[in-house]
Amino acid sequence: MTIKQFLNERLPLGEFSAHLRKPLPKHINLLFSLGSLAMFLLLLQAATGAFLAFYYSPSPEHAHNAVTYISTEVPFGAFVRGLHHWGASAMVIIVVLHLLRVVLYSSYKAPRELTWIFGVLLLLIVLGFGFTGYLLPWDEKAYWATVVGVEIASTAPGLGDFVAKVMRGGAEIGAVTLSRFYALHTIWLPWLAFGLVGVHLFLVRYYGSSGTPKNTPEEMKTGKPFYPHQVFEDVVGMLILFVILAAVAIFVPVPLEDVADPTNADYDPRPEWYFLFLFQLLKYFQGPFEVIGTFVIPTVGMLLLLFLPFLDRSERAVLWKRPIALTVTSVSVIGIVVLTILGGTSKKLETTDAAVQETSQPTEQIQGTATPDTETVEEGEAVFDFQLTEEEIEGARAVEEEAQ
Ligand code: HEM
Repeated sequence: MTIKQFLNERLPLGEFSAHLRKPLPKHINLLFSLGSLAMFLLLLQAATGAFLAFYYSPSPEHAHNAVTYISTEVPFGAFVRGLHHWGASAMVIIVVLHLLRVVLYSSYKAPRELTWIFGVLLLLIVLGFGFTGYLLPWDEKAYWATVVGVEIASTAPGLGDFVAKVMRGGAEIGAVTLSRFYALHTIWLPWLAFGLVGVHLFLVRYYGSSGTPKNTPEEMKTGKPFYPHQVFEDVVGMLILFVILAAVAIFVPVPLEDVADPTNADYDPRPEWYFLFLFQLLKYFQGPFEVIGTFVIPTVGMLLLLFLPFLDRSERAVLWKRPIALTVTSVSVIGIVVLTILGGTSKKLETTDAAVQETSQPTEQIQGTATPDTETVEEGEAVFDFQLTEEEIEGARAVEEEAQ
């Protein structure tokens, strides 16, 4: 008895093979490989992350050293870290392109609403990976971007303070925060991500590919088979993506700043590029309106995205034939791109800087409990309530005195 016969007698391999060979819709194009590329990147992140975890240690005393060691001493360490770092950015780009492809061909319409909803949840998970991973090198940018991120979460009405406390694991960002972010990044989010991807892919296979709206009902099952044709195209796409990522990982070093210094109140906090649009948005809402930028717009935006299939009741057609969807999509994409560019090129966001400069009320200014002083804050810039500890404030004062 051959192994094939043995397995065939025990498992429904024939049915599985027939399922994989089912024909796809006639009109399908390369954009339909973006979902598989997202899947590939998720696996690549899991694999490279697993290797990084061999050396990484999530404590403020060791994290930065461990990352330096990985980048300079471990064989292929810099390469694996490069793949993981640039792979995270590629993941965000590919997932967003995949989402836009789904919007382009209105593939979220009935019966695929649930596939879409699980997709939006996956997008949130991908952003969650980015946010939690950013802290792990425990360098200046990691620390201060997290300070800002947690501060933003704390402005949510009602639960904000509680959420911020849970994220920090206490009153300030420190050892517990780092362990928590590490646990989220390496245990909670991967489990959630693979679980959600499982459901997402099940739904994709259950409903079958939607194809482009050009397909007539008769053409929905007259295209090339999924296996081997589509699988072959997807694998070629994966190889090309891997080669590009490998080249970037080899030639572009991953940044690592000095070890985090909670007393460095002069630091200019900046999040990863895919959060820059949110960061920029905050600058337009100050004082009592801060919550509009930190909570209301992002939450409403996310809810609209989540329930898009139920809001857009138009006939299925390509995006250019749906004027409202085209306008909303273009305005959102252009808005996000412009805000990202502004966020990346703008000068320092007034935070603790204003506090250190202003000597008359240093404590209140650093803690941000005082109302923003419009004379010390430039127009269009926001002041955050950092809720720094006494120790951090003392450190900031020392830095200020030293500078004088
Ligand atoms: C980790 C993230 C994701 C992975 C791994 C993933 C994977 C996939 C794969 C492999 C497909 C089938 C091939 C294709 O149509 O491209 C697919 C289809 C789909 N995805 Fe995703 N996806 C992700 C995120 C998203 C997001 C963010 C959305 C939208 C918000 C989304 C919505 C959909 C929809 C509606 C389909 C069905 C498309 C159709 O039948 O034409 N996915 N996804």
